[in-house]
Amino acid sequence: MAKITLDIFRFDEATDAVPHRDAVVVDVPETTTVLDALETAKAEIDGSISFRRSCRSAICGSCSMNINGITGLACKTPCNTVMDEKGVVVVDPMPNFQPMKDLVVHMDPFWDKYSRLKPYLQPADADSTHERERRVSPEDMKKLVDVANCIMCATCYALCPVVSVDPAFAGPAAIAYAYRFIEDVRDGQRKERIAQISEDYLWLCAHCYACSYCPKHVDPHDRIIDVKRASIKDRVLMNERGPRHALVVSKTIKQTGMLAETEVIQGTIGRFNVRGLLKVAPLGLRMAAKGKMPPPFVKPIPKVDEVRTIFEALEVPVS
Ligand code: SF4
Ligand code: SF4
Ligand code: FES
Repeated sequence: MAKITLDIFRFDEATDAVPHRDAVVVDVPETTTVLDALETAKAEIDGSISFRRSCRSAICGSCSMNINGITGLACKTPCNTVMDEKGVVVVDPMPNFQPMKDLVVHMDPFWDKYSRLKPYLQPADADSTHERERRVSPEDMKKLVDVANCIMCATCYALCPVVSVDPAFAGPAAIAYAYRFIEDVRDGQRKERIAQISEDYLWLCAHCYACSYCPKHVDPHDRIIDVKRASIKDRVLMNERGPRHALVVSKTIKQTGMLAETEVIQGTIGRFNVRGLLKVAPLGLRMAAKGKMPPPFVKPIPKVDEVRTIFEALEVPVS
């Protein structure tokens, strides 16, 4: 047994103007999970400590919280992997959410973005007119298995820096779940779903990989790339800046082996979009004043053929 100190964020939106912290010492085995340590604290010391949980087995997705500054499932995190040398474990509510009571947060924005996906199959014809069950080949199902493991714990959403600066962004979990339906051969709304998630700022993802930490190995970041690829493949909303930017970046790198920034700016904003180009002109002038103006043309690097071979091997779309 060990004495573990839980340093707990305490706040009740019904009564408190500002949060405070409580240090609660529990006597538990070092290998106990953070969730079980919290359960002990609640049962034996302070019944008012609030947190969500249900399964205790990393299945229900309820117990996400910040543990020593990193979001994760409390029921999957043994205390001895996170406590400091004094046996202290710091627990806070998930970031990117409004705290409600202690470690419980308002999940509404997360669920709203999820429900906008219409997260259920919408086949092209009605079941009553379909002659037999809708079959999926093992190969097609393989694409969906990992993402179907999502337990909607919102860990990835809490870790996403884009959500923190632009709450309109759908976030990694919703985009990954959109992929689950976009790639389901039984669904009849592929293009509509791609358009919907594009309108929910799919292209704002900054590819920082913070959401790669997913307790169920859904890899939302990779699914975001898949959805972007699907949007280009199906030519959905191709006039938006996101896909235009992706294509012009690929094109210039394939042509020259370098990022031709001037062409990327023009290709993203639109060569004939005078108003858009005028908007970025002050930035261009400031860059020029600091000697950082990108060259108007970029010469291909000596081994550009090798770069082109990589593009062709990976079938990277460029136009
Ligand atoms: S993708 Fe992973 S981290 Fe995100 S909600 Fe689903 S299970 Fe949780
Ligand atoms: S990769 Fe994209 S979705 Fe994932 S955390 Fe970074 S910005 Fe957010
Ligand atoms: S209690 Fe269910 S995932 Fe942790």
